[in-house]
Amino acid sequence: MPAGGFVTQGGKEYPGKLTPYVLVTCIVGSMGGLIFGYDIGISGGVTSMPDFLSSFFPSVYEKQTADKSTNQYCKFDSATLTLFTSSLYLAALLASLVASTVTRKFGRKLSMLFGGVLFCAGAIINALAQNVAMLIVGRILLGFGIGFANQSVPLYLSEMAPYKYRGSLNIGFQLSITIGILIANVLNYFFAKIHDWGWRLSLGGAMVPAIIIGIGSLILPDTPNSLIERGKRDEAITKLRRVRGVDDVEEEFNDLVAASEASKKVEHPWRNLLEKKYRPHLTMAIMIPFFQQLTGINVIMFYAPVLFKTIGFKDDNSLMSAVITGGVNVLATLVSIYGVDKWGRRFLFLEGGVQMFICQIAVAICIGVKFGVSGNVTNLPQWYAIVVVLFICIYVSAFAWSWGPLGWLVPSEIFPLEIRSAAQSINVSVNMFFTFVIAQIFLTMLCHLKFGLFLFFAFFVLVMSVFIYLFLPETKGVPIEEMSIVWKNHWFWGKYIPDEDLPHAGANLEMGKTKNGLGGTKSVY
Ligand code: BGC
Repeated sequence: MPAGGFVTQGGKEYPGKLTPYVLVTCIVGSMGGLIFGYDIGISGGVTSMPDFLSSFFPSVYEKQTADKSTNQYCKFDSATLTLFTSSLYLAALLASLVASTVTRKFGRKLSMLFGGVLFCAGAIINALAQNVAMLIVGRILLGFGIGFANQSVPLYLSEMAPYKYRGSLNIGFQLSITIGILIANVLNYFFAKIHDWGWRLSLGGAMVPAIIIGIGSLILPDTPNSLIERGKRDEAITKLRRVRGVDDVEEEFNDLVAASEASKKVEHPWRNLLEKKYRPHLTMAIMIPFFQQLTGINVIMFYAPVLFKTIGFKDDNSLMSAVITGGVNVLATLVSIYGVDKWGRRFLFLEGGVQMFICQIAVAICIGVKFGVSGNVTNLPQWYAIVVVLFICIYVSAFAWSWGPLGWLVPSEIFPLEIRSAAQSINVSVNMFFTFVIAQIFLTMLCHLKFGLFLFFAFFVLVMSVFIYLFLPETKGVPIEEMSIVWKNHWFWGKYIPDEDLPHAGANLEMGKTKNGLGGTKSVY
């Protein structure tokens, strides 16, 4: 959607500029994504470092260095090793539920500060770890940090951003996740060369983004919305003027006050969510994050170096390949920032789905042909490994312009205000839960399903693409508070939306149809 194309409910256009002040504020705020990304990217590389493995997971290390005839699919299968990666996400799930209260009652900044402090503590414990228990405790603290940061940062960004730029700034969060992953991949590549203790630098490096977000949270301004929510109206209007760069903010201010009043009347947002008219929203809040993780992306993000080693790369080459996939991830995210409001969400979802499906089948065939079911291979030609990496890169780029950013953007724009925070918590929790599940069972699945693992994810990509085609209306160019029109016009969800919930009269039904094209009309989904 062109930046100037947003109109609010009732056709209002709030004045406001993309001021340097708000830009800097949002850049600092999105550092929360950087921490999340750093964590996603660091663990896979560290768990492939021989020094780290021999110190903490000697049995995995021995299996790995043993006779080449050992089944390649299973050499990394270790429940404790996966627990190292996945424990963080379970902790993040729990913390995000607690964080929703802190964020609401004490402001977004405090949650961000907690995020930074917990993160920093986790990074220090990990860097100094003497045993597996210290490693796990460190990961749990990092997870708590992520829970707080991920709950508050996206909220902070969308409240700060002028509504015209909310889409791009929202994907800015995903961009900083991918940059965090890439930085972690690059650091792993270099730190792996420092023998005995390079992994300590990798794990301790999480302190840097943690300190940035910690200090950032102290100097960042509170959002006007949060100030109003906490009864500080005078401060809120001064802040709103500063953020928008204009004096004429009364209309937006009054609407923020009204929205805050209205949401205070909703006593049971969780119970509300179960009402029939919220069925489409609840479905999306659960299915979108579930499917995002079932693309299998985190198999690559967490375990790329391990995976590349499995297909025969040397230590150094496998870390380098992770750097390459990390770079592709960042660049392809830029494509979605450019295209999401031009081509629409459905187009990106469906194109990404087809591309991921083809690549997963191709990788399954490549690995299946060489490794068979026994997994015994002694000499894999280099060109062959390069072809596999190429397909993995094409797959990662597809994810990075489809399910990656849209998995966060679409849920954040489809919920009506009265259930927005509850539905968003469900979205985050489901995402963290399935991130945990995939991280925990991937190495075991690789051992049992072998090359069929890629067919397993390909199957889910097919299912999710059909789901999007049939059930997700196009939301491009639709003001958030008028989203009910889109659902009303949908061939399947229409019957769930009562007429009285539409923002205003029949004219809007027509508007919804012409505006939304494919995704929003009754005749075509
Ligand atoms: C997902 C993460 C994933 C990352 C990869 C995010 O949108 O939520 O699970 O690791 O994208 O870039």
